[in-house]
Order: sequence, then C-alpha cells, then structure tokens
Amino acid sequence: MRTYVVTGSASGIGAATRARFRGAGHRVIGIDLGDADVEVDLSTDAGRHAMVDQVGELADGAVDGIVACAGISQESPLTISVNYFGAVATLRLLRPLLGRSEAPRAVVVASVASLLGADAGVVEACLADDEVEACRLIEDNLSMAYLTSKTALARWVRREAPTPAWAGAGIPLNAVAPGTVLTPMTTELLASDAGRDLVDSAVPMPLNGHARPETVASVLGFLAHEENTHITGQVVFVDGGADAILRGDATW
Ligand code: NAI
Repeated sequence: MRTYVVTGSASGIGAATRARFRGAGHRVIGIDLGDADVEVDLSTDAGRHAMVDQVGELADGAVDGIVACAGISQESPLTISVNYFGAVATLRLLRPLLGRSEAPRAVVVASVASLLGADAGVVEACLADDEVEACRLIEDNLSMAYLTSKTALARWVRREAPTPAWAGAGIPLNAVAPGTVLTPMTTELLASDAGRDLVDSAVPMPLNGHARPETVASVLGFLAHEENTHITGQVVFVDGGADAILRGDATW
C-alpha cells in the first residue's frame, strides 16, 4: 500500500485519481477547498503551509506519491496563484516527505493550453518565483492567465526534473497535459454549440474526442506508480492528437 497526496481531490480529474488509487487499495490524502481530508486554499501562503502541517500529521512520516491537480480557469491573477504557485508549493513543500519513501513520484496536471500561447513576462516571473510580480503583470493580460499558468508549470517541470533535488533524489517528476476533459471545469463551455466549436477549433481531438477524467487519472496513476523508474521531465499529452496537430513535426 502506498500513500498518495492528491490536490483538487473533490472534483474532476483529482476525484477520479483519488478513486483510482483508493480502488487499488492505496491510502489517499485528498486536498481541496472543501470535501477533502485536508481543506485548505492553495492560492495563499497560509493555506500552503497549513497543507504541509496537516499532511505531515496524516502521513505518518512519508508520502509515496504527489499528484497536483488543483486548478481553476478564471481570467484572474488567482489562476496564476492556484495553477502555478499552488502546484509548485505543493511539490516543493512536500518533497521532504517524499524523500522518505522508497519509490517517490511526483506529477502535476499541466494542459494542452500550454501550446496555445502565453504571456512571456509572466512566465519569467513565475519561474523566478516572484508571485507578487506575476500576479501584477497578468492584470494587463487576463485572457492569457490560464494559458500562462500552464506554460509556466510545464516549463518548471522540465527545468526541475533533472536536478539533484528531484532526479538526484530518485524522484521522477512529470506533467500530464490533457486536452479537453469532461469535468465541472468545462461543463458550461461545452454546453452550447458555440462553446464546443470554440474549444474544438483550438484543441482538435481526432482520437476519441473529449476525454473522461478517468482516462487522465490512469496516466497520472502510471507516472506516480513505482513501476515508473525512468520517465522524468516529460509533459505527457493526453489529448486525442491535439499536440500532434498543433505542433506537427516541429518537436519529436
Ligand atoms: P475541476 O474544477 O473539476 O476540479 C478542480 C479542483 O481544484 C476543484 O475540486 C477545486 O475545488 C480545486 N481547487 C480550485 N482552487 C483551489 C484552491 N485554491 N485550493 C485548493 N483546491 C482548489 O477541474 P478539472 O477539470 O478536474 O481540473 C483539474 C486540473 O486539470 C486543473 O489543473 C485543470 O487546469 C487541468 N486541466 C483540465 C482540463 C479540462 O478540460 N477539464 C484540460 C487540461 C487541464
């Protein structure tokens, strides 16, 4: 039995991931704003530190896997705080507990949105760990908040994964980048023909269309499993072919 921490565990992809781990007999410490084992707001420093304290108490000293799913898609600086700084803080602050596992693993949920553009200045502020500046700068470009948060998160994973703190400590660190997934986050957008057309023209998914959250959970589950000994620093697209269309053979 492994002990997993799942953020965003109350809904969508996080809830499907929690259910998958629990169904396989593992222990899950779910983190969310409500309806969770640890109820905290990951957009604030106080919430992030309260999360570490409470996970430390519940985990009996070690965590085997972290899956950071919590996220929002508002045109607001809050999106930068939750999606980038909340996810990075979760991984950084819980890393000491991971270090006590015999097979530690970490995964974040990025997005195919990271292929659709970003505010470069805000990405740099994120990677420089300057939350105040990143949230100030995005005020001028709020429609890019979500894309920017996910671009920064994917880049953070690429930078961090091969370092002594992660690879050197035997911890694979990866991102999963879903295409359009049928969760409460997308319900409203997909409810109208116009919304669906907008989404599908930005994120084409020729293989099987919109994904179910369980599909993303199974990939998160593999990357967080002890069998994953050599995949690290990857952004794994679970997107029905969107990345192959959007980037074509510009990357391989
Ligand atoms: P969801 O809205 O169903 O679940 C998100 C969860 O995160 C909710 O339970 C929510 O309460 C929690 N959360 C939000 N703010 C929080 C905070 N400040 N502190 C703690 N928890 C907080 O959404 P979904 O679709 O399951 O999204 C999960 C992740 O997948 C997000 O990071 C999202 O950006 C990403 N994603 C979703 C896609 C989709 O099409 N649904 C596509 C690509 C990525």
